[in-house]
Amino acid sequence: MCGIVGYVGRSPAAPILIAGLRRLEYRGYDSAGLALQEGASIVTARAVGKVVRLADKVRLEWSEVRQAQCTAGIAHTRWATHGAPTEANAHPHMDASRRIALVHNGIIENYRVIRTKLEAKGHRFDSETDTEALSRLVGEFYRGDLRKAVIQALRQVEGAYGIAVISADEPGKIVVARKGSPLVIGVGDGECLVASDASALIAHTRRVIYLDDGDVAVVTADSVDITDLNDSPMDRDVAELGIEVGAVEKGGFEHFMLKEIFEQPESVRNALRGRLDVPNGTAVLSGLSSSARELVEMQRITMVGCGTSLHAGMVGDFAFEDVAEIPTEAQQAAEFRYRNPLVDGRDLVIGISQSGETADTLAAIREAKDKGAMVIGLVNVVGSTIARETGRGVYLHAGPEISVASTKAFTGQVAVLLLMALKLGRGRRLSRERGQFLAAEIGRLPELIERVLLQNDAIAKVAEGLVRHEHAFFLGRGPMYPVALEGALKLKEISYIHAEGYHAAELKHGPIALLTPGVPVVVLANRSPVTDKVLSNAEECKARGARIIAVITEGGAGAAVADDVICIPDCDPLVATVPMAVALQLLAYHVARLRGCGIDQPRNLAKSVTVE
Ligand code: F6R
Repeated sequence: MCGIVGYVGRSPAAPILIAGLRRLEYRGYDSAGLALQEGASIVTARAVGKVVRLADKVRLEWSEVRQAQCTAGIAHTRWATHGAPTEANAHPHMDASRRIALVHNGIIENYRVIRTKLEAKGHRFDSETDTEALSRLVGEFYRGDLRKAVIQALRQVEGAYGIAVISADEPGKIVVARKGSPLVIGVGDGECLVASDASALIAHTRRVIYLDDGDVAVVTADSVDITDLNDSPMDRDVAELGIEVGAVEKGGFEHFMLKEIFEQPESVRNALRGRLDVPNGTAVLSGLSSSARELVEMQRITMVGCGTSLHAGMVGDFAFEDVAEIPTEAQQAAEFRYRNPLVDGRDLVIGISQSGETADTLAAIREAKDKGAMVIGLVNVVGSTIARETGRGVYLHAGPEISVASTKAFTGQVAVLLLMALKLGRGRRLSRERGQFLAAEIGRLPELIERVLLQNDAIAKVAEGLVRHEHAFFLGRGPMYPVALEGALKLKEISYIHAEGYHAAELKHGPIALLTPGVPVVVLANRSPVTDKVLSNAEECKARGARIIAVITEGGAGAAVADDVICIPDCDPLVATVPMAVALQLLAYHVARLRGCGIDQPRNLAKSVTVE
């Protein structure tokens, strides 16, 4: 989604802003821009396309001497919502006097009303964006105090925003505000930064202040003053960032996605660290310890999430019902929110999100909370909105996930959901013996992933068989059904091959009509109680001429029906969802690489989807 960076200090702002935007490139965007305070005026530059085009423009238009004099500014990467990705629609947007510049993440829902009112007053808009309505509104209220003008404007606004604003008349000051779109302030030595994502700050400082919804902050080189929209001062803690610069760099890999796939033995190890109690066949989850008794007594569990996080929740659904024997359901977060969900104080709702900022997931947990359900978060990004709003939950500790296509977050989510199922199960009817077995199997996950990664070259070879196809199917049953959905999602989003995940038994109820000779069908046929059934479904596809790529258990059945075989190590069928997912991630990655796709930033996609 859109990204915001701001800088105020003693160094030239432009290179810092551009470096910050580069750190945010992974979020997905289509244009970029920046505004600098230069003496008593504001200068701007905007460009369609990559940040490098903005950087070229800045270099050509402003000499280094000129840039050195500009030590405060704001910048933005835009992911179009209102209006096409053009230079005119790129941020920053100015007010009518062209002395105030504003960047914005989110959506101003009542912008048409504001725009119509301003047009009636004589404003002539330069763009089609909702944001320009806000920048002009701030200008309308401006009487020499930017903070006050921003507050007055925001009181008229409906929707979601994270904004950063500068005025030519108040040098060395950035006003920021948030509601529904994350903003973090980095506190340095004689300099401060603002950003929509902490990865844009870490090269400068590790001390950060996370703003809450409704906060307005005045940021200078040496101070941060926070109030709410009623002007009451707000106290916010300074937190220490736990991530290293190296974590947001490629470290020798061709793509972030490949790096993150290969990080999974470590990221899953981190997710499990200190949490497995094999002798007692259970898990230790400190984020849930205060509510352990209540959790065990829940009548029903609902997992809410979107995309890959939803698929992890669907795996969790199987694990919770099988291991903990609690009726469980995974629901698409937007659907949950709008269907008047039947939850109350006897329900547990688990919000699953890598970013912790996904608008639909956030809204779903708010809805669940309003209805009295117990809500916990399963989140990767520390300090994110969902993590803070749920107040209790379990972090994944996967480290920053930069590739738009989620990989290590998925395996971390599944690993943690297995731990939760184990813990709840042991509080209910799960025997110590089965608990011990499962705990030991979960503990093998890092090693199981490593063994799949060793087959990277072999999987790259299998990928060659998919490259020239435009359609593919992924089939699975039981807990492998959501993994089939996830495998198809990975392939379609990064290689642009149309891929469908299906329950293996469902294919013959319609989709089988689409099978033509040579169409790739990836069959998830690991050792499980339903292996034979899955292989029969594979035979049905084979009989229609499909090319079968079977992912089977080492030494297990399935090779005979397959044109290509990928093996995963033998393990418990629930635990096998993780190595299976890793094999499918590698497959999708190599297909996309061979097709020459922009893997880390697929077209039209954004890393964190903060609009409904
Ligand atoms: C797919 C992908 C998305 C996200 C979804 C939810 O590779 O990354 O489907 O899983 O947008 O995002 P989070 O997990 O941040 O809530």
